[in-house]
Amino acid sequence: MSRSQPEPVRETLNFDERIVLEHWSHRNTSVKDYWASHSATLERFEEFWASVAKELEWFKPFSKVMEPGEYPNVYKWFVGGKLNMSYLCLDRHVKSWRKNKVAIVWEGEPVKDSGEPLEVRVLTYYDMWRYVNRVAYVMKEKLGLKKGDRVAFYMPMVPELPVLMLAAARIGVTFTQVFSGFSAEALASRISDLGARYVFTTDGYYRRGKILRTKEITDDAVKTCPTVEKIILIRRVGQTETPIDPAKHTYLDDLLADVSPTAYVPPEEMDSTDILYVIYTSGTTGKPKGIIHDTGGYAVILHATMKWVFDIKDEDIYWCTADIGWVTGHSYIVFGPLMSGASIIMYEGAPDYPAPDRWWSIIERYGVTIFYTSPTAVRAFMRMGAGYVTRHDLSTLRLIHSVGEPINPAAWKWLFELVGGGRCPVGSTWWMTETGGILISHTPGLMLVPLKPGTNGPPIPGVEVDVVDEDGKPVPNGVKGYLIVKRPWPGMPGPPTGMLGDPERYNLVYFSRFRYFFTGDYAIKDGDGYVWVLGRSDEVLKVAGHRIGTYELESALVSHPYVAESAVVGAPDDVKGEVPIAYVVLKSDAPHTPQIRDELRRWIRERIGAIAEPKSIFIVSKLPKTRSGKIMRRIMRALATGKPIGDVTTLEDEAAVEEVKIAYEALLKEIGEGGRS
Ligand code: WT7
Repeated sequence: MSRSQPEPVRETLNFDERIVLEHWSHRNTSVKDYWASHSATLERFEEFWASVAKELEWFKPFSKVMEPGEYPNVYKWFVGGKLNMSYLCLDRHVKSWRKNKVAIVWEGEPVKDSGEPLEVRVLTYYDMWRYVNRVAYVMKEKLGLKKGDRVAFYMPMVPELPVLMLAAARIGVTFTQVFSGFSAEALASRISDLGARYVFTTDGYYRRGKILRTKEITDDAVKTCPTVEKIILIRRVGQTETPIDPAKHTYLDDLLADVSPTAYVPPEEMDSTDILYVIYTSGTTGKPKGIIHDTGGYAVILHATMKWVFDIKDEDIYWCTADIGWVTGHSYIVFGPLMSGASIIMYEGAPDYPAPDRWWSIIERYGVTIFYTSPTAVRAFMRMGAGYVTRHDLSTLRLIHSVGEPINPAAWKWLFELVGGGRCPVGSTWWMTETGGILISHTPGLMLVPLKPGTNGPPIPGVEVDVVDEDGKPVPNGVKGYLIVKRPWPGMPGPPTGMLGDPERYNLVYFSRFRYFFTGDYAIKDGDGYVWVLGRSDEVLKVAGHRIGTYELESALVSHPYVAESAVVGAPDDVKGEVPIAYVVLKSDAPHTPQIRDELRRWIRERIGAIAEPKSIFIVSKLPKTRSGKIMRRIMRALATGKPIGDVTTLEDEAAVEEVKIAYEALLKEIGEGGRS
């Protein structure tokens, strides 16, 4: 299932534009020296990762760096070691001078016309430690949760989300956090797959001035989830649309009411290989899969990358603009930064609410020094105009990274010049839900090789990647190929099965194509060995950085009573990088009304969530297929982007050239005749 033309990056890439920041001279390194020390880390691979791991506090030291697990391609990291993530994020700091240091500054979205002050909550490490202990007490003593039990969080961006994650980690309860923008059905499938005993959610939250109803969506979701004993509600908006049913709902506040303010729950001594959490992500087939992250390996990759990639220091005010619903937020809002003892910013709402300068005003008001954001956000801001940025003082910023999708050189330059004032290293950190932490990036906290607009840079120390052809042979520099990771790394999908309950699928998806871990990405390596990830090579879309399988959209569409068949492809989009375009064949008895497209959009929002809504829906009488029944996606992509199909002789499927042309003409005619919306 390969895509012939991914084009999230549509600007010319310049492999030779090198930018060196003079004031970073303490770390500036030539490419040659970087690779020399990088090779040294690979030569003494285990020793190297052991030395990084030893910087953490272990209850019991590990006896072995790495060994194969019970299933193929699943590895055990830091075997024999015992540690606890909540201890690393809180107790360690509370025992130090950081006790009263600010851990989280949280800002709510609403801005009132009356000029009332913004809603801000400041939690020190001590506050967090107290709160997490009390919540862990509730989980353990009142909800009867014990090590190995499972819970789901369907939480928006409120401080209680990190509190819940750390409380679960403290007592060894496996959690999954589901993005608060997902639908009831998407939530239900994750709760069931995990077998969660409780779902924690809020009574609602604010987004672009509206209240969104997490409680009601959760009520809907749990109807099909027999393992759920109760929904635990966190108060955010102070009201619910539907009544509270004491048999089903309990407020966390009420459970906490009689818990001592000094409640203490000893952190569970977790094996390094024990599960910390499960996170669901989309692949090319089937339902979203649960990726397992272990405790020790994951802690080590986060510790390493907070230092090397983010150069985190005690003086920093760190802000990652992601939502904690995605892996970025797990790793680089909650666990990584708190392990580092950083002060972090958390913002509840939309970047452009009430005006497009909200983010820049946050940077100015809190003096943010490290900023981690996404290319989609940057491109959206670029459109709104420089004025929203330049009216704010961003001079505190010293380091910027982006993540989630390729950053086009123009967006990189905008970040570098306008936001970073030409002072800040700006990187594009490559990683995936599966990798747990950043694997390819500039490392301004360690050694800094010259920056290049749009590149991901070299792999971090201790990580070996390559770009290969169909046969797994390295491609020459400058030639497009497939990105693979050549050695296991700490933070990789964890034992026992990598993918929850499905070791076969884990191996099929990542290890069946090449001998090594296959990322699914197309990439180019330049003459300096920098990696330039170009986009997905498979039927996975990156829409505004969010990962959506076209298969998921297609199954949602065909589950609609009117839909006979559907095919979804990605089309380039100037802001979101890529957007879904759907081709739909209706059943013969379906009403052919103009409203059908709105109905299908609503359907997708309800099955998956608003992020998956197709940009255009084409109603067609049949999908272009080869004689063997394979859908000719390239034709649909060409039409969706208003481009000619191009050189059909390079089509990867077995369609004859003539057949492709006929299918193209037929589809063109149909959508030209009003099939488009
Ligand atoms: C896919 C993984 C891990 C953070 C959020 C995304 C793309 C991610 C970059 C980057 C180019 C990138 C890849 C990857 N991607 N970061 N800096 N440059 N592409 O996690 O949802 O699991 O998606 O995002 O295509 O395979 P994810």
